[in-house]
Amino acid sequence: MITPCWSATYYSYGAVSSWLIRDPQGNKLMSVPQSVLEEVERLRAELRRHDYLYYVLDQPEITDAEYDALMRRLQELERQYPELITPDSPTQRVGGAPREGFVKVRHSSPMLSLDNAFNEAELRDFDRRVRELLGGEPYRYVAELKLDGVSMAARYENGVLVRAITRGDGIEGEDVTENARTIRSIPLRIESRWPAIEVRGEVIMTKRAFERLNAERAAQGLPLYANPRNSAAGSLRVLDPKITAERKLDYYAYFLLGPDGQPLLDSHWECLQELERMQFKVNPHRKLCNTVDEVLEFALAWEQRRHELPYETDGLVVKVDSTAQWARLGWTAKAPRWAIAYKFTAQQAETVLENIEVQVGRTGVLTPVAHLRPVQVGGVTVSRATLHNEDEIKRLGVQIGDVVLIERSGDVIPKVVRVVRPGENRRPFVMPKQCPVCGGRVVREEGEVASRCINTSCPARLKESIRHFASRGVMDIDGLGEALIDQLVDRGLVKSIADLYRLRVEDLLPLERMGRKLATKIIKNIDASRQRPLPRVLAGLGIPFVGERTAQFLAETFGSLDAIAQADVETLMTAPEVGPKVARSIYDFFREPRNKELVERLRQEGLQFEYKPVERRGGPLEGLTFVLTGTLPNLSRAEARKLIEDAGGKVTDSVSRKTNYVVAGADPGSKLDRARELGIPVIDEAKLLEMIRGQAA
Ligand code: IVH
Repeated sequence: MITPCWSATYYSYGAVSSWLIRDPQGNKLMSVPQSVLEEVERLRAELRRHDYLYYVLDQPEITDAEYDALMRRLQELERQYPELITPDSPTQRVGGAPREGFVKVRHSSPMLSLDNAFNEAELRDFDRRVRELLGGEPYRYVAELKLDGVSMAARYENGVLVRAITRGDGIEGEDVTENARTIRSIPLRIESRWPAIEVRGEVIMTKRAFERLNAERAAQGLPLYANPRNSAAGSLRVLDPKITAERKLDYYAYFLLGPDGQPLLDSHWECLQELERMQFKVNPHRKLCNTVDEVLEFALAWEQRRHELPYETDGLVVKVDSTAQWARLGWTAKAPRWAIAYKFTAQQAETVLENIEVQVGRTGVLTPVAHLRPVQVGGVTVSRATLHNEDEIKRLGVQIGDVVLIERSGDVIPKVVRVVRPGENRRPFVMPKQCPVCGGRVVREEGEVASRCINTSCPARLKESIRHFASRGVMDIDGLGEALIDQLVDRGLVKSIADLYRLRVEDLLPLERMGRKLATKIIKNIDASRQRPLPRVLAGLGIPFVGERTAQFLAETFGSLDAIAQADVETLMTAPEVGPKVARSIYDFFREPRNKELVERLRQEGLQFEYKPVERRGGPLEGLTFVLTGTLPNLSRAEARKLIEDAGGKVTDSVSRKTNYVVAGADPGSKLDRARELGIPVIDEAKLLEMIRGQAA
C-alpha cells in the first residue's frame, strides 16, 4: 500500500505497475514504476524513524554509514524521478539556496515573554496572585526547565511543516522555514489529530556544539560567539540555510497550539505529552506539581544539577496547568499572568583583573587570558577567564586593574561579563607585536579578529601540537602530559612530533620529576601508540577541521593515508560530511613541505597508514564473502566495503568457489564472467542494501 505524498497526485493506469505522477505545481506528468514509489516511501519512513531515534530519543539503531547509504539511495531515486520530491522528504534538510532577506510574518497570537522571579519569595508572590485571581479554585503547575536559546513557532498543515517563524518583536517574526528544516529534531512530517497546529519551542545549541563552533571560528580567525544563546540566534537567522545546517541546532517544543494560536488541549501537561507522541523533542525534565512547594523542590534539585545537562539552562518556567485557567488569569501588556520564569542564581562573582597574558595555540592564534584575583564561584575557585581576542577586549572596554564581573557556566571556561568599576591605575592591554613564546612576528590579517604567530616552528605551536597528538581519543599516550612536553620542547629534545618516537629512556632521565620506572613506562606508551589505527593518526596530525569523526570517515572512504594525501579536493569531498572547506584544508595540508616531511618520518616510524576495519560479529552478513566489480550507482567501493564489513561480511579481491556473492555495477570486469562460470550469484547495489538491512537473503 502506498501512502500518497502530500502534494503529488497519483493516477493509476493499466495493471497498476506504473503510476502517473503530477508534480507539486500540478503541471508535469510522469510515469513512475510502482516499485520505485514503494521504495521511496519505505526509505523515507525508515530515514524519518532513524532521525527520530537519533536526534530526538538519542538512541540510534544504525551506524552513520548505514544511514548515509539509505539517504544516498533516496537521493538517487529522487534525482531520477524529481516529481517525487516533496518538501517533507528527509533529503530536503540539507539547506537550499541562500536568500536575499527574511519575510516578516504575523504571529497567530502574540509570542510574549515572561516575568521573572529571582528568589523563593518572588515565586511565592506569583503563587499568591494566581490563587487570589482564581478565587479558591484548585490549580496545578507544570514546572519545566528554561533552556537558554531563542523561541520559534513551527506551523504544520496536514501533518507537514509549512512555516517556521522567529519570535521577532512578539507580534511579527521572520520566516526562517528553510533554516528550520535543517534542524533534525524538528519533524518535517508528523501524525497529527488536527489538520493544522502551531508548535512553539526553543532553538538551542548544546554546550559542546557551541565550544566546537567557537574553537573552529578561533582557528579561522573569525569573531567568536559570546554564549550558546547568541550562537543559536545567529545560526538560525542566517540567509544561507547551509550554514544553519552545519551548526547542529536543536529544538525543544513547549507549546501545542491551534492555527489561531490558542492551546489545543485543556491541560498543558497533556499538550507536552501529545507533542512527545507526535515525536517532537520535549524536555523530559519536567514535573506536574500540586503546590508551589513542589515547584520549589524541583527548582532546588535542578539548580544543583544544572551543570550535568548538555545545554545551558538559566531557570525554570512555571506554568499553570489548566489552559482554561490561562484565559481566566489573562495577560499584562508584556507577559501572561499564568506563567513565570524562576531564575537560578547566576554563577557570577566580582573580582580584580590582575593581568592579561597571551597564550599561543596550535594554529599560532594568540589568545588573551585574564588572570584574576582568585574568587569562589558556585563552589569553584576561579583565577582565569578567557577574553577571546582583541575585539572582545575592546567590546568589554576592559583594562588591567579593573573590577570585573565573571560568570561560570558548567564546564565552559569562565568568562568576563563586564567591567563593574574601572581600576584606579588601570592600563590598557596591547596585543604584542612579537610572539611571547618565540619572538616571531605577530600578524593580524585584514578582516580577521585573530592575531597569529606566523613562525610555523614556534615552540608554543609545537607544544600544542604534541599535546593534541598525545591526547585521549587521539594517540592516547598516557604520561605525556603538559609538564613533560614543555621540558621536551624547551630542551630541544623534540622538534617535531616524529621526534617522540626517537626518544630513549636515557633522554628522559635528566628531566624533572622523572625516575627510570616512569621513563620506561612513558617510552613504552609512546612505542605502543605506533599501533593506533589510521583514524587516530589522521586526527593526530592536526589538520584544521579534521577531528576524530571526520578522520574516521576519511579512513573508511579512502582506506589509506596515502590515498587521502594524494586525493584532489573533489575526490576528498566524496567522504561523508566533507564539504569544500574541509576538503581544501586537507588538500593544502598534504601539500605543505613541512607536513609532507612529518608524514614521511611518521611512516618510517611504523605508524599505521592503512585502514584495518574491525571485524563485526553477529551482523546480517556474517559468514558471507563478497567480491565487488564495476561502478555502483550510489556507493563508492570503499563505502560498499565498509557497509559489508559493518554488517559482519568479508570483501575479497578475486572470485573463487568461496565467494558467496558478486556485487556488480556498471562496466563490470572479468570478475563477472568468472562468477558466471562458477555459478556464483550476482547481485546489484539495491539488493546488497536490502541484505544489509536484513530484508532478504
Ligand atoms: S514559555 C508566554 N517555556 O524563555 C510564554 N519559555 O523568558 C513564554 N524559554 O521567550 C514562553 N524554555 O525563549 C517557555 N519551557 C519553556 C521555555 C521558555 C525557554 C524561553 C523562551 C521565552 C523566554 C521567556
